Amino acid sequence: MNPKQLVGEKATEYIKDGMIVGLGTGSTAYWAIMKIGEMVKNGLKITGVPTSKATEKLALELNIPLLDIADVMHIDLTIDGADEFDAYKNLIKGGGGALLREKIVASISKFYVIISDGAKRCEVLGDYAVPVEVTPFALNISIDQLEKLGCEPKLRLAEGKPFVTDNQNLIVDCKFDKIENPLALSEKMNAIPGVVENGLFVNMANLIITEDGNGNLVVIE
Ligand code: A5P
Repeated sequence: MNPKQLVGEKATEYIKDGMIVGLGTGSTAYWAIMKIGEMVKNGLKITGVPTSKATEKLALELNIPLLDIADVMHIDLTIDGADEFDAYKNLIKGGGGALLREKIVASISKFYVIISDGAKRCEVLGDYAVPVEVTPFALNISIDQLEKLGCEPKLRLAEGKPFVTDNQNLIVDCKFDKIENPLALSEKMNAIPGVVENGLFVNMANLIITEDGNGNLVVIE
């Protein structure tokens, strides 16, 4: 079994009948959602809350009943991927551009499970550029202010054009050196007018389900 499938399917063991379940985005969350689809087909009664349009589409194809994020105030359990994580469960997310909805869903989740292959584990965050969602009309101001925080900012492109998020915003990928204090950095980035949200997820994950590269599961509590 590939590592993403291994961790994705393991996370679904935390799902119980009647739960509202946040459905993450990306190639690892995909495996959890596929398994949830199978469980629903076999009688599991849950309602999902998708973190992106792509996940919504997949969940609908699998007949997973869905709630719109605008209609929920709490979520029992969310399963989502990450682009980088450390032993303290600090995360960088947003490689797929879904960080805003992902962070909103995470913030109202009672239990937030991250699934990731072992290659994304690091000692200190910072190898991966932090995705930052910004409003298009303040793009240059946001880029300038982000750069002043000590990063190399790069507007994300897709097929040569600016990548547009599900919320009609843009993404600036901010490459820092080692991020020793992700909470402080997250607060500084979000204090910039024009920044909608950033991809540092601190004090959010309850559990990280990962693996050691040899097919063995590793759980960080
Ligand atoms: C989506 O915006 C991201 O936060 C994903 O959760 C993250 O990029 C992990 O994606 P993969 O599982 O595809 O690596």
